[in-house]
Amino acid sequence: MDTVQLPPDYLNGAIAASAKLVDATLDAVLPQPAGRQARVQEAMRYAVMAGGKRLRPFLVRHSARLFGVDDSRSLRVGAAIEALHTYSLVHDDLPCMDDDDLRRGRPTTHIAFDEMTAVLAGDALLTIAFEILADARTHPSADVRCALIARLADASGHSGMIGGQIIDMLADKNFGVDDVIDLQRRKTGQLFEFSCEAGPILGQAAADDRAGLKAYAQDIGVVFQITDDLLDVTSTAEKTGKAVGKDADMGKQTLVTLLGVEGARAEAQKRARRAVDALGSYAAQAPELSALPFFLLDRDS
Ligand code: IPE
Ligand code: IPE
Ligand code: MG
Ligand code: MG
Ligand code: MG
Repeated sequence: MDTVQLPPDYLNGAIAASAKLVDATLDAVLPQPAGRQARVQEAMRYAVMAGGKRLRPFLVRHSARLFGVDDSRSLRVGAAIEALHTYSLVHDDLPCMDDDDLRRGRPTTHIAFDEMTAVLAGDALLTIAFEILADARTHPSADVRCALIARLADASGHSGMIGGQIIDMLADKNFGVDDVIDLQRRKTGQLFEFSCEAGPILGQAAADDRAGLKAYAQDIGVVFQITDDLLDVTSTAEKTGKAVGKDADMGKQTLVTLLGVEGARAEAQKRARRAVDALGSYAAQAPELSALPFFLLDRDS
């Protein structure tokens, strides 16, 4: 399959430009602190408007572009997945989970506010994600809005992201490679899957048109988490904006503990190649999507 080669560094610029549009959309959809509930609204904004990479919205926008979807709609879906993703980080950082003090280069929400506020701000970010999707400005068709809501509920719930988080927190010492991959597909991969399937859902594409993007997303979700686990061992808090060395401290099995740094990188490379193959004819139409798997593998933050 022919792919369009992007100039070096193109993706860095494209992701940064996309993040600006996503930030503006998030600013518009998040509540302004007001009234007696202002504290939780301030904490929601604190957690979200902290300069995340906004990769999931980037995937939503590029998967939607393939189906001619108006960018104002994909930006709203991007804001929804980013709100939900940020909730997962706020809760992941709590003392009862990973107990982290640093996120996106600044104090975690429970440090900047307090635990009670961080729990509630996370809850409110989860809820607002569905509120954004349910709004007619996201799509005029109620069927499309319901399909987005159902897909996000499945991706983020007990057998998706939350399922992966509980398996991760239970930190089973007997885990093998397949167990870790299953965990990663839930914990991280499912939100990537939602992001890539949102495009064809918004574009009311046929199920067949969704299959390639879904397979692509399944692999890049795992590539992304393997790289996160590699960075936990090889990078610094200055670069990642969060503590490193946490997985070993918490006795977690990752592909890095099971296969070593080189083995984990090789597994991620294999999956990155497979992700590009899964794009099929979309690879030429969406060079950003075909370049992304290896970009994710080589990231240092
Ligand atoms: C971090 O996600 C959590 C994982 C799933 C590994 P990101 O690395 O996308 O975090 P932000 O949004 O850029 O802060
Ligand atoms: C968390 O994975 C992923 C979710 C929040 C679902 P990690 O615990 O590895 O993420 P970081 O390293 O804290 O960002
Ligand atoms: Mg965690
Ligand atoms: Mg964590
Ligand atoms: Mg991590």
